[in-house]
Amino acid sequence: MTIPAATLDELRRRARGAAAHAYAPYSRFPVGAAVLADAAIHSGANVENASYGLSVCAERNAIFQAVSHGARRIEAICVYTPTSAAVTPCGACLQVIREFAPDALIVCCTDDDGGERRYRLGELLPAAFRLP
Ligand code: THU
Repeated sequence: MTIPAATLDELRRRARGAAAHAYAPYSRFPVGAAVLADAAIHSGANVENASYGLSVCAERNAIFQAVSHGARRIEAICVYTPTSAAVTPCGACLQVIREFAPDALIVCCTDDDGGERRYRLGELLPAAFRLP
């Protein structure tokens, strides 16, 4: 499915807006994510914890928002970081993407439009775990 350019613009805008709400006092690395599902956009930011391992990435927070609103099939995911190079989702998030967004377009963006990278899950997690 092709995502309209205006929808991708809105996803980028929402991901960037979400990053403004990141709670990242330990890493000082804010991340925002936005996902498209059933013609709606849901967003999330990374939320860290003094017990570091309890921190949750922006991608999972955005996906869980969508799922909590009834979505089961995500069509696109946008990850925003205020960095010079775009970052890709971590392994844990990729496994969650496998669950709800196996065919999604994954857009990794920064403030530099030229630095945007686009992927499909198969490129980032080709041998995702699945129950036999
Ligand atoms: N983080 C994300 O939110 N998404 C990613 O794709 C990579 C890492 C967060 C986790 C932690 O709060 C901070 O970035 C530094 O790792």
